[in-house]
Amino acid sequence: MTTDFRTPALDALAQEIIPDDHFEFSAATARDRFFADTRMLDVKQWVHNAFRTNPTSMLGHMLGNLALTGSEDLLDLGCGNGFILEHLRPHLAEGSITGLDVAPAVLAAAAKRLHGTATPCTWIEGSADDLSMLGADTFDRVMANYMIHYVPDLNRCFAEVRRVLRPGGIFQLTTDRTDSMLEMYQVHFTALKEMGAPQDLFKATPKGRLSLANGTPQLQQHFEHVEVVTWQDQLRFTDPEPFLTFYTVGHNHCCASSEPDERLSEDFFRELREHVRTQVTEAIAANGYFAVTKYTGSFLCR
Ligand SMILES: C[S@@+](CC[C@H](N)C(=O)[O-])C[C@H]1O[C@@H](n2cnc3c(N)ncnc32)[C@H](O)[C@@H]1O
Repeated sequence: MTTDFRTPALDALAQEIIPDDHFEFSAATARDRFFADTRMLDVKQWVHNAFRTNPTSMLGHMLGNLALTGSEDLLDLGCGNGFILEHLRPHLAEGSITGLDVAPAVLAAAAKRLHGTATPCTWIEGSADDLSMLGADTFDRVMANYMIHYVPDLNRCFAEVRRVLRPGGIFQLTTDRTDSMLEMYQVHFTALKEMGAPQDLFKATPKGRLSLANGTPQLQQHFEHVEVVTWQDQLRFTDPEPFLTFYTVGHNHCCASSEPDERLSEDFFRELREHVRTQVTEAIAANGYFAVTKYTGSFLCR
């Protein structure tokens, strides 16, 4: 089974439909709206895992990157509900875990998830660009998975990671290309066009702020060696409903419902979902499934 899901046709489509302009959200929006509870993360983690076709999971990709021997001290910036940490923990039986997140609700969920395990865990509520509570040369591994686009001061964050990372340690920063999950954006933008929606909704994912495609120069200002390890997958849906949940709850209608907007009523989003559902249903009827191709990966910095 191939794990290279990108085709020239998808690359051409990306050129055509993914805008250069991208959404931007503050850490406060992340804390108070997206991650005020674990719903968004729960839906994403369920769908990414249950509907994948790459036999190697994202967690397998990370384990390969991190090359853990079992005794490392690991810091996870923006650890969310601890889904990734739970899976890495058995590989850190003699080590330690420190999880940091700006959102208390998801941090509490992470603490609950790992409570009582044999690996010592510390939980810190804070922002990834202020690690002043942590000493220099304290960690063998630092991770920042799918969170860097929320961090207010990227330069300060990377300088702080460099400071707390021991010599020989690895910083793994995982993010997407802006054309990851292209098919979701295609049905979304088509629906917006059909409805004559406001032009400023046609924006790419907030990950455009530091994506897999543009992040290397920023990281090279702080780390001597920066390597990109890509990982692709294709989610396949044979029923439109799980995709609709992923699109609505997991991605706030490709960010259109991320923040209050008086132009956009509940009726607007109901109609938007109907336009999206129709396209997904047609794709399933034509091809047997609706595909969402992921183009993601990690920067490994030393
Ligand atoms: C999409 S989730 C990723 C969670 C986890 N890393 C994963 O991949 O499953 C983004 C996380 O970053 C956190 N976050 C947002 N801004 C942050 C900041 N400035 N510092 C630390 N965490 C932040 C959010 O609260 C949320 O838990």
